[in-house]
Amino acid sequence: MSQQFDVIVIGAGPGGYIAAIRAAQLGMRVACVDEWKNSAGGPAPGGTCTNVGCIPSKALLQSSEHFDQANHHFAEHGIAVSDVRMDVAKMVARKDSVVKQNNDGILYLFKKNKISFFHGRGAFVKAVDAGYEIKVSGAAEETLVGKQVVLATGSTARALPGTPFDEQVVLSNDGALRIGAVPKKLALIGSGVIGLEMGSVWRRLGAEVTILEALPEFLGAVDQQIAKEAHKAFVKQGLKIELGVTVGAIKVAKKGVSVAWTNAKGEAQTLDADKLIISIGRVPNTVGLNADAVGLKLDERGAIVVDGDCRSNLPGVWAVGDVVRGPMLAHKAEEEGVAVAERMAGQHGHVNFNTIPWVIYTNPEIAWVGQTEQQLKAAGRAYRAGTFPFLANGRARALGDTTGMVKMLADAATDEILGVHIVGPMASELIAECVVAMEFRASSEDIARICHAHPSLSEATKEAALAVDKRTLNF
Ligand code: FAD
Ligand code: NAI
Repeated sequence: MSQQFDVIVIGAGPGGYIAAIRAAQLGMRVACVDEWKNSAGGPAPGGTCTNVGCIPSKALLQSSEHFDQANHHFAEHGIAVSDVRMDVAKMVARKDSVVKQNNDGILYLFKKNKISFFHGRGAFVKAVDAGYEIKVSGAAEETLVGKQVVLATGSTARALPGTPFDEQVVLSNDGALRIGAVPKKLALIGSGVIGLEMGSVWRRLGAEVTILEALPEFLGAVDQQIAKEAHKAFVKQGLKIELGVTVGAIKVAKKGVSVAWTNAKGEAQTLDADKLIISIGRVPNTVGLNADAVGLKLDERGAIVVDGDCRSNLPGVWAVGDVVRGPMLAHKAEEEGVAVAERMAGQHGHVNFNTIPWVIYTNPEIAWVGQTEQQLKAAGRAYRAGTFPFLANGRARALGDTTGMVKMLADAATDEILGVHIVGPMASELIAECVVAMEFRASSEDIARICHAHPSLSEATKEAALAVDKRTLNF
């Protein structure tokens, strides 16, 4: 006899586990199926984000930033340190323990919310009168029936054709997060979010890092004034970023790799390195779902086709997160998970795609919400821009980190904030105020008139708002 549920969620990444919790809060009987295994073969819910994404990358970014500070910045504060050494194995073990705390936290949340967790792969068997039959195989072997199904199966790293990941020399995000010793030379293909974050980690620890990027523009989706400022800072730190390249043959040997590439001028080059990280985007993951058995519609990229409310082509089957259209971000997956649970309960869940923040956790951090200046220009929208440099912010000076700026874009006629772009210290935290402002459709004048604590980095946001009206007080 199969176990019956109101909802079966497949995938326990941020999209799936959050959907499961919200559905349980709303009184549904919920099962969540996830196949991720930890090194001992046990369950490791949390998906890409927890196991090989957001959380471990931020742990390594933090460790490597401490190392960089000790090596290069403590002296400015009068702190003398010598013989600063990095124990890579310890750093990686700390990262693993941070991951485990998050895995355990999710298992606890499943218990707390009375969600039945099944460790294994979930696949469609068939549609039945009561909903859908799902077979779980792996550590748990069960057949479940759910009135409704939420698919949150995430994404996987995109490989370059002919160069599969071996996770020893050719690394995806997975291998990049568990390199055992600092490579002398590290090559990366793709200077997107992963390329910059992982490149920064290993550069800080002493690797000579070269990133090969196909596009002629650095961070093309980012406001270009902000991207240029960030590029300057990264190059100064020693990251080699080659733009407009064409990657050719990649020869992989046991101890290293040789990448043939052509630079923007068309000149043939070779890059030899100990390790190669390929970070050229991710692909939606529906492998193993047995989508054909029920006629689930996928697009040409393999993403599950959904409408604006995350409904698939099948009644009662929803999909959220990386496996559907939209930005591949953990918080976007979570918001969709909550909205879907609320829709299943007959409520009106909502996700505002215009106010999803982006953060790149490099140093300086890059964060933005809303439209870039180039997007506004392309749309022919009349706008006013205000910028304020951290150089003129007292807290940034006290921190010893004055790189970057806050840039605010507001409608020329109504003054509604259309976008905020930050490069600089704690941009990841500063952007939250701007998201709130945009959700409430604030004007730049609203932010300019709100009292911000002194001295704080957030005063730079207020000053950028004042700059929209050309009346900065401290610059
Ligand atoms: P996932 O997290 O991929 O989870 C899907 C889960 O489903 C997995 O556990 C998988 O094993 C399971 N699964 C798949 N198929 C089945 C099946 N048939 N049966 C059972 N289980 C199945 N985003 C941010 O917002 N901030 C960041 O700082 C950030 N950093 C990142 C760093 C890196 C290196 C990477 C790779 C990604 C990062 N991301 C970040 C992106 C973020 O990880 C994803 O957007 C997010 O994990 C998507 O969540 P999801 O629930 O859709 O899928
Ligand atoms: P990405 O889309 O951010 O960047 C990929 C880069 O590779 C692009 O600049 C692209 O032009 C380049 N590229 C593609 N093909 C190429 C080729 N053949 N040769 C050279 N360059 C090539 O993808 P990335 O960095 O792999 O990350 C995947 C996703 O994971 C991100 O888009 C983001 O959604 C998520 N992520 C989010 C993070 C965050 O929020 N801080 C951190 C890391 C990942």
